[in-house]
Formats: sequence, structure tokens, C-alpha cells
Amino acid sequence: MKFEEYQAAYQRKTRLSKKLYTRSQHVFAGGINHNIRFFSPYPFFVQKAIKNCLFDVDGNKYTDYWMGHWALILGHSHRAVSSVSSRQAKSGILFGTANTLSVQLAETIQKLMPRAELMRFSSTGSEATMYSVRLARAATGKRVIAKVIGGWHGFNTTLLQTVNYPFEFDESLGLIQEEEQFVESIPFNDLDRSLKILETRKDDLAGIIIEPVLGAGGCVPATRDYLIGLQEFAKKNSSLFILDEIVTGFRISIHGAMSEYNLEPDLFTLGKIIGGGMPVGLVCGSKEIMSLADPIMRDQKYKRCSIGGGTFSANPATMSAGLSTLNYLKSNKQTIYTKLNSLGEQLRKRLTRLFNDSKINVKVTGMGSLFMPHFLGRRDNNKDKVDNALDVTTANQKLLHMYHISLMARHNIFFLPGKMGCFSDAHNTNDLERLISATEAIVESGVLN
Ligand SMILES: Cc1ncc(COP(=O)(O)O)c(C=O)c1O
Repeated sequence: MKFEEYQAAYQRKTRLSKKLYTRSQHVFAGGINHNIRFFSPYPFFVQKAIKNCLFDVDGNKYTDYWMGHWALILGHSHRAVSSVSSRQAKSGILFGTANTLSVQLAETIQKLMPRAELMRFSSTGSEATMYSVRLARAATGKRVIAKVIGGWHGFNTTLLQTVNYPFEFDESLGLIQEEEQFVESIPFNDLDRSLKILETRKDDLAGIIIEPVLGAGGCVPATRDYLIGLQEFAKKNSSLFILDEIVTGFRISIHGAMSEYNLEPDLFTLGKIIGGGMPVGLVCGSKEIMSLADPIMRDQKYKRCSIGGGTFSANPATMSAGLSTLNYLKSNKQTIYTKLNSLGEQLRKRLTRLFNDSKINVKVTGMGSLFMPHFLGRRDNNKDKVDNALDVTTANQKLLHMYHISLMARHNIFFLPGKMGCFSDAHNTNDLERLISATEAIVESGVLN
């Protein structure tokens, strides 16, 4: 079966979405509100989402492995979250003042992640990483921030560098070189080369920011040695080690990836899961560092590190959804994390076997409930490792897209094309079996050869 037939099948069943996309182009640049949400020929438009499924405007029902940018660990519209959210909607969704729920959510996070001695909520992860950069500079009096090649920390200006292949051009119009010189990029999972680069900037190195698992960059876990090596370098040189746990926090374990890797970050960021599906970001760290942002202790602005918040920070709608999500995770942690990690592990093994038995060279990377297949080309090209974002992007991206579109078109299984997938507590082994048999059918159709 040819790929064009899959595309035609997609177009046949998404006619209303096509119309909506045309309208959408008249009101949004590119017709979308997040660059990655576009895929060719056009994205389907979702009407509702329940448990592990998305329902589009044409009446199609898809099993969802994108799960709201990996935020929805309990699934869509989970009863524990939606009942609390609808109750909250009746008593206020934005107070614009201090509120009890924010304290309860922060206390819950602090108990599970004690390195969060003090915290500050924002409305997005991008803001949280932006504040972490500012805090690191304020705490150290230095200017340079190191990030890894392929690392994604949101749309904040500073960290918008070396995100996309070939990692050497500007990531956007509107960035200026004077600012860019204060960011240094290092090769993910290559400690020797990273340390050599860091050595040249150490006197002005404010911090090193890194995701424990490259998320948007292709679902690649960092090695323990790499993370520990960077952390040691930072501590030795009076720089901060900043862990971006916006994807991994409460997903890899209830104590975050930092507990799995035994890390002691000076600052870390959370988002996604802690908002229970509502907009959120959180910067966390030691009392000493976070106190730099204390407006009472530091009553004059020039003595303070000014970080947000913002209009919507710690709003009760987000706080109540986040709190019910974390409470549910806490009460069911044994069953949930065992199940999610086991589904992830089984899927990685079975997809690898299935593709390789069919002589399609695929490596499935991931950790816990996160997973992503990489098409490595023909078996005889000796390429079988996926250790960093360069390996991810030089794999066959076109085949990955074709695989994801084929799943959507003929099997009603949704991955955001080209991105990693995840399991939620709303998925089960039947979903796994269905994904495997759909993959078998796609492989048999010959579209990936
Ligand atoms: C690791 C990481 N950091 C930061 C962000 C930015 O978060 P937000 O999209 O909420 O601004 C993301 C978003 O996907 C992310 O994956």
C-alpha cells in the first residue's frame, strides 16, 4: 500500500477538520497555536477528550498517545480532576490573590521533592525555565548558561538555541547575537567533550540546564554518568545545576527523575503534570537561592531577583486540578507507576522486535512510560545508536512521520507526528496490543519499505 493511500484515507475521514483548518488559517499564523501542532496535510480538530481517547469534529475516535503534550498522566477528563475542577469553577477560577490551594499544592510537591525548599508558580514551563536562568545569574553573579544540543526548555528567549537540526542556525528571527553569546551549547551524553567546552566558560558560568530525558529532542534518556558529571562540574565551579523536570517530574517517578538518577539540583523546574491539565510552570530550589526573589526581605528592586508569577500564577483552577492529580498519584503510586513503566517497557521491547523481525532497522528509545521509535535506515549502514538529538534527527524522520500518519489514517491511533508518545493511567494492555497489531498491519502494507 502506498503512503498516498493512507493520506487519502485521512482526508476522507476528516472533511470537517479540513474546513476548520481553512478557517483557522484566516485567524492564526499557519492556522495553529503551537508550531508543532501542525502536520501535513492539516491537523484534525478535537471536540472532546475522555480517558485515553480524542474525539474529532468528524466523529472519529482516536487512541491518544500525545496526551496533552505528555501532561495528562491520569488520562483526559479524569473523574478525580474534573469533579474538583467543575466545583472550583463555581467558586472562582481566578482570584488574583493568595489562596489556600496554592499552599496545599506546593506543600504536596515539597514533601515528594524535598529539594523544593521554596517555589514560585507561573503559568507555563517556558516562564519557569526563564526564571531559573535569571535566578542562576543572580545567585552567581555570572552570565553564561550552558544547555545541551537538542534541549528544549520552551519559548523563552535565552534558551532558544541549538534546538533543531542542524543546531547551528538561529532558531528564530528576532534573536540577537549580543544575547546569544551568553549561552553555551554542549553535546548531550558526551561528558568529555561537554566538560572541555564548559572549562572554557567556567569563570562566567552561571548554570547548566538540562532535561534528564531529552523530550521534544527525541526521547533520549541521559546517562547517569553524564548528569552526575555535569552536576559535579557545576558545583566545583560555583555554578548552578538546573534540572528541567517539566516532562519527567511525576512521570518517571513520583519523586521525579532526580531521585532515579540520584541528583541534587540547585534549581529545578516543573510543569505539565502538576497542573492536572491546566496551564502551569514552577521553579523550585534551595532557600538560599529562591530567597533572592523574596520581595519582603529584599524590598528594593535592585537587591532582588525579579521573577513572576504573572496574572494567572497559582490560580485556583490550576491549583485544584494539580492538587487532585498529585493526590491521586500519591494514593495510587504503587499501581500507577508499576503499570505505566511496565507498559512502556513492554512496548519498547515489542516494537523493536516487530520492526527488526521485518528487517526494518528501528531503535525504540525511552524511559518509564515515554517511548519513541527511530528509523535508522537499512540494516547494513551500521547505525544503531540513538544517544543524542543529532542521532534522532539524522534517523529517517520521513518514515517516522509516515508511520504516525498511517496509524492515524487507518487505525485511529494518534501520535503527534514525529514526537515521542506516552502512556497514561487511562491506557491498558489492550491499547498496547492494538498498537502492536496496527504496527504489524502497517509494516505488512509495505508503506515503510
Ligand atoms: C522540558 C521542557 N521544558 C520546558 C517546556 C516549556 O513548557 P511550556 O510549553 O508549558 O511553556 C517544555 C514543553 O514542552 C518542555 O518539554
